[in-house]
Amino acid sequence: MKAIVHEHQQGIAGLSYKEMDQPEIGADECLVQVGVGGLNRRDVAVIENKHDPKSGPFIPGSDAAGTIAKAGKHVTKVQEGEEVIIYPGLGWDENSDAPPLGYEIVGFPENGTFAEYIRIPAKNLVKKPAHLTSEEAGVLSFAALTAYRVLFTRAKIRKEDTILLPGIGSGVLTFALKFSKAIGARVIVTSRSEDKQKQALELGADKAINTYDDWSQELKDEQIDVVVESIGKQTFQKSIDAVRRGGTIVTFGATTEDTVELDIRSFFYGQYNLLGSTMGSMEEWKEMLAFIEKHDIHPVIDKVFNAEECEEAFSYLKSSRNLGKLGIRFN
Ligand SMILES: NC(=O)c1ccc[n+]([C@@H]2O[C@H](COP(=O)([O-])OP(=O)(O)OC[C@H]3O[C@@H](n4cnc5c(N)ncnc54)[C@H](OP(=O)(O)O)[C@@H]3O)[C@@H](O)[C@H]2O)c1
Repeated sequence: MKAIVHEHQQGIAGLSYKEMDQPEIGADECLVQVGVGGLNRRDVAVIENKHDPKSGPFIPGSDAAGTIAKAGKHVTKVQEGEEVIIYPGLGWDENSDAPPLGYEIVGFPENGTFAEYIRIPAKNLVKKPAHLTSEEAGVLSFAALTAYRVLFTRAKIRKEDTILLPGIGSGVLTFALKFSKAIGARVIVTSRSEDKQKQALELGADKAINTYDDWSQELKDEQIDVVVESIGKQTFQKSIDAVRRGGTIVTFGATTEDTVELDIRSFFYGQYNLLGSTMGSMEEWKEMLAFIEKHDIHPVIDKVFNAEECEEAFSYLKSSRNLGKLGIRFN
């Protein structure tokens, strides 16, 4: 089989699409023929900062949907030939305040989904939601689950709330926009790109401003209840300054550096809530799938690349040319 492989050199220069051995499956696992895999910022971070290219070939990727080519002998809940979508977590089955110790995400340290065939525990598979195309299913899980946990489990948003989403180009935030609108909340987005601001308004955002503008001016007539912060250092202070006193900031990403300074005194006087979040449990993933089915929500797909174009796909994401999700087609 062929796979996107990272080896020899750090980062995108170390990627190629080449022959690898097809994985063997255990009794509780399935071999899935991947249709489309979804690309996430994590995949870029893995090949730039986590996987040592000198340690041997490695297949990145956390998201995929496809068809079960072979089911292990103990597998009963899914069947060969069935179209499925994968849960990208390993070791976080039930809802809990935080992931259990030892929890991993598919696509590092173990090989991931960017291959013609993948080996995956059968319990991580459910039937593809009927209202989604195979491309939509392939790019869904990681980003949609992250957005679902951030909004509903952590920030507990309500329809009366106004939600601020800085950096709407993000795959996760395009889901956050759709999920917040599905419950009737007001949504304000920011982007560095005028084009993306326009697209976000077309997708249902109530207001769109430039990330680099003065938010205190642009948002002076707004009461922001929740800020969903993933840009990191570049916007963290602006996000705290934007939220109403007593409001909530949920952070789950740091695209522009992890370390920020915080004026503790103004933070505690403002009675703000600062929450962390990370992907979500398998149980939450199933709740998220039911939610998108109920509200007929489809991912925003910017572009689907062929697997041979892997370097271009990673570069496209790295330079934030996308609004919403990117896919890679394998079959
Ligand atoms: N903890 C978790 O489980 C989890 C899960 C998923 C993602 N994440 C993290 O969440 C973040 C978003 O993920 P994603 O895959 O959705 O990312 P993405 O598609 O790459 O989007 C990131 C967005 O951030 C904005 N941005 C990037 N660089 C910026 C800069 N220098 N200044 C201002 N804005 C900038 C851009 O928005 P505009 O182009 O609109 O300006 C960009 O589209 C990443 O940091 C990712 O690692 C964490």
